Amino acid sequence: MEAVIAYPETAAGIFARLKARLGDVAPEFELKAKAEIAAEINRLKREKNAIILGHNYMEPALFHSVPDYTGDSLYLSRVSAKADANIIVFCGVRFMAETAKILNPARTVLLPSAKGGCSLAASITAADVRALKRAYPGVPVATYVNCYADVKAESDYCCTSGNATAVVKALQKQGHQRIAFLPDEYLAKNTAKETGMEIVIRERDGNPGALKPAQNPAGETYMIGWKGRCEVHEQFTVEDIRMARKQFPDVRVLSHPECSPEVVANSDYAGSTTQMLRYVENTPQGRLLLLTECSMGDNIAAQNPNREILRICSIRCPHMGEITLEETLEALKQERYVIEVPEAIRAQAREALDRMIAIG
Ligand code: 13P
Ligand code: SF4
Repeated sequence: MEAVIAYPETAAGIFARLKARLGDVAPEFELKAKAEIAAEINRLKREKNAIILGHNYMEPALFHSVPDYTGDSLYLSRVSAKADANIIVFCGVRFMAETAKILNPARTVLLPSAKGGCSLAASITAADVRALKRAYPGVPVATYVNCYADVKAESDYCCTSGNATAVVKALQKQGHQRIAFLPDEYLAKNTAKETGMEIVIRERDGNPGALKPAQNPAGETYMIGWKGRCEVHEQFTVEDIRMARKQFPDVRVLSHPECSPEVVANSDYAGSTTQMLRYVENTPQGRLLLLTECSMGDNIAAQNPNREILRICSIRCPHMGEITLEETLEALKQERYVIEVPEAIRAQAREALDRMIAIG
């Protein structure tokens, strides 16, 4: 695993760090209070032999003070698979914490929120996947990790936004002409475009497990997608990009592949949250517009005060927003909310995740 992030030991040290990064956007009294909480979290981490994983969407005060590892879903999955701490506190949403439990069942995995949902994960059930498998017998099922454990258990492969194309290409190389790619309609359409496949989008007809009729593409080679959407990324529009380019003609636009194909086509770059981060690091000059959850832009701006990082902060992920420093402290103190996955489901879901990790 990559090197762990080192934080100052004391609340005063953490405050100095937060002030340097966030002093322009948050008042000192707030940063002082946050630093006190972060220092207590870091003390409890040592006492309880815990590690904290922080998704790139975490709020800035948390992101810059307590996670031992930060990154996108793919990276944090890899870290959680190898973690040897007694406790993994997952500062992200439930499906991510479940993934950590599936990959490393011997550890106690905590999510600092009783809910921590995700509109994509909520869009599909295991019964829906079984219905699709009945409708397309023998077709391999690749599911985006933004789904719950029982859906992963029905899948042959998992993928993240960081390796969706690689997973589909691996399946194509194995000779598969049709591939079910669930549940994100837009990620599926963007990946189909990347891999030269037609696509049909299926959806539920009332109850889970019932499918609305749909016309499959005429040829033999196509992807089968599902009508799930990220409630955050579906809101970004081509008009947002047009207006940004009108105001700032030099701006480079980065979008997440959960955005619509039209938004992705009008962007300069599309990639996972960490891939966007790398793009920013490798593009040392110029204005950038990030079409993703606003906190990520906040976190990059805090570390790079000289960069102009534009973001649309009226569009937020309410589920990621449930994870705060305050809730993370309670999670460690009370050892809540413990993530459990029934063993039969876990073992099957693990196979799909392992196949993904093997691809890279
Ligand atoms: P990444 O895998 O790119 O970090 O994305 C996770 C997510 O939930 C995006 O909305
Ligand atoms: Fe789910 Fe979208 Fe929030 Fe990511 S941003 S956790 S995909 S609702």
